Amino acid sequence: MLAPLAGITDRSFRSICRRLGAGMVFTEMVSSEAIEHNSAKSWNLATFSKSEHPVGIQIFSHDPETLARSASSVEELKPDAIDLNFGCPVRKVVKRGAGAGFLEDLEGLSTAVRWVVQSVKTPVTVKIRSGPSVDRIVAVEAAKRAETEGAVAVTVHPRTTKQAFKGKADWKIIAQVKEAVSIPVIGNGDVIAPQDVLQMRDQTGCDAVMIGRGSLGNPWIFSACRAVLKGEPWQTPDTAERWDVIREHYSLMIVDKGDFIGVREMRKHLGWYSRGLSGAAELRAKVFRLEDPEEVLNICQKFFLNPKSELSCE
Ligand SMILES: Cc1cc2nc3c(=O)[nH]c(=O)nc-3n(C[C@H](O)[C@H](O)[C@H](O)COP(=O)(O)O)c2cc1C
Repeated sequence: MLAPLAGITDRSFRSICRRLGAGMVFTEMVSSEAIEHNSAKSWNLATFSKSEHPVGIQIFSHDPETLARSASSVEELKPDAIDLNFGCPVRKVVKRGAGAGFLEDLEGLSTAVRWVVQSVKTPVTVKIRSGPSVDRIVAVEAAKRAETEGAVAVTVHPRTTKQAFKGKADWKIIAQVKEAVSIPVIGNGDVIAPQDVLQMRDQTGCDAVMIGRGSLGNPWIFSACRAVLKGEPWQTPDTAERWDVIREHYSLMIVDKGDFIGVREMRKHLGWYSRGLSGAAELRAKVFRLEDPEEVLNICQKFFLNPKSELSCE
């Protein structure tokens, strides 16, 4: 599965990942309050294309009632799941009691899951961290509560709120959650190579694996993981195949967001796609200043189809 990554996993990237083997994708976190206020930007974040199914819409709020009302609103978009974000470690979010703030209020977490489950027909999933800090690990308790209240699956990112994205994900906590609940457990954290999927499965017994940062510039990781799980050989895509996907990603982005935003949003992806290739810094310096999508595509085509040559910035 593709993890929700705010500002990154938009419709274009999610479609690409689904096509390349991700079993399910999630929207980036959408504010329940903003949905209630009918923010066009947030509705846009919650909207997905047909090619993405199965897709979950992820919502967040500090308030169970607002979560429940917004879940019922976004249900109209007909997602395959509604995911509750109990893992966002951003200070502003946690301080209000939203995201990972719920790990400090497990009664509130139970109420939130119960009310959302009662207000929608769509399956409800939750995404949690290990706990607020290493001396307050609550993942098992949180997952059990979510199960009791009717969540159909739980994603575990085993870092603490305090850790944010530092240090290593402690996969033992995924194993502990798997032992404790009967609903499917989705393991997440630090899967960056296809072999990691096997290791996470074997070490934790998780039912599915969710990949975030490992997919940046490498949406092929999902096909590679599928091959590894089936014990089949995996061939990394050749230059032409890579370029086809990058070009497709670019086109989807421009069609979806228009030239002005699309060109800007695509810059970070081009940075990730070119990572490690000779001449990548020059490519970035050149195309990050350009505004015309056609011009960017022409330069990229030269670069990605001749990855060994230094980029000529003509
Ligand atoms: C830039 C960024 C944005 C993120 N946005 C979200 C989000 O919107 N919702 C969420 O549940 N997790 C979010 N996460 C956490 C990821 O979904 C995931 O749990 C975490 O990155 C660990 O997985 P990974 O090692 O495969 O990246 C975000 C992480 C990053 C780095």
